[in-house]
Amino acid sequence: MRIILLGPPGSGKGTQAQRLVQRYRIIQLSTGEMLRAAVAAGSPVGLRAKDIMAGGGLVPDDIVVGVIADRIEQPDARNGFILDGFPRTVPQAEALDDLLKHKHMKLDAVVELRVNESALLQRVETRVAEMRARGEEVRVDDTPEVLTKRLATYRSLTEPLIHYYSERRKLLTVDGMMTIEQVTREIGRILAAIGAVDSTPAKKPAPVKRGGTGTAGKAVRRGSRSSAVGSRSAKKAAKAVRKVGKRPAKRSKKAARKVGRKVAKKGARRVTKRRAKA
Ligand code: AP5
Ligand code: MG
Repeated sequence: MRIILLGPPGSGKGTQAQRLVQRYRIIQLSTGEMLRAAVAAGSPVGLRAKDIMAGGGLVPDDIVVGVIADRIEQPDARNGFILDGFPRTVPQAEALDDLLKHKHMKLDAVVELRVNESALLQRVETRVAEMRARGEEVRVDDTPEVLTKRLATYRSLTEPLIHYYSERRKLLTVDGMMTIEQVTREIGRILAAIGAVDSTPAKKPAPVKRGGTGTAGKAVRRGSRSSAVGSRSAKKAAKAVRKVGKRPAKRSKKAARKVGRKVAKKGARRVTKRRAKA
């Protein structure tokens, strides 16, 4: 299974990705975690990303596409992955289409977590408090000022992906205002409805410890390794972004109709152009 989790900062992408990792035994590819690891390691990627991230902007497309291209190459990505925080711009989405097409891989779905903006600050503040309580270093971008910038960045550069994936019949929207457990259940339900997963998951999600020893920690370490290979990433990124602007790979009309029917039948909600603009 290959899915993307899409949503504004604090919408629960990381939380849900970790739960899905446990449940479906696939890996989480979080560009945010990878970039933070690169910053901590002081790698060339990290040096370029540091100030941009601290200011709530987006790291250039060629860097993140390179990081993801490298990571998808690794053996543990063969069984599938959850992209958390990537793509974040239309050129990134186009580069991903090309990457997957080249590797004969199919994207199953893009799960949009829809959360009221008014809830996001509270969630980020809770995360800060929780990290402090665990003695972990707090993210430099988790302040009200930077969150406002991250939200503005999301609206202008990332929200267009809702339309992008809706047009390609990949978008499934989940009410991210429900409890964490309810959101996980709903994601499982809609993924089963489109046939991306069995309706009986391998394992109930176990409580996940953030950072150090949990799944997030593993993602950081993997990200650190992949983002440290600067020159290889850069070459691949350059290749991937050169293709940006080409028409993206499309699912056959027949297959798209089949998925559409299944989703409609199970009641999963797809976002229309009108809703995406709302
Ligand atoms: P990234 O790390 O991806 O940050 P983000 O998108 O801003 O999102 P967050 O990680 O803050 O939130 P989340 O949605 O994961 O929520 P979480 O599960 O933690 O990116 C950071 C930066 O890196 C970017 O600003 C950019 O500079 C750069 N970057 C990354 N990817 C890039 C890319 N592709 N291109 C360019 N630049 C890139 O949940 C938040 C809190 O809410 C937690 O405390 C959680 O417990 C709680 N919570 C979760 N769900 C619920 C719920 N249902 N109910 C109540 N509380 C909940
Ligand atoms: Mg996150």
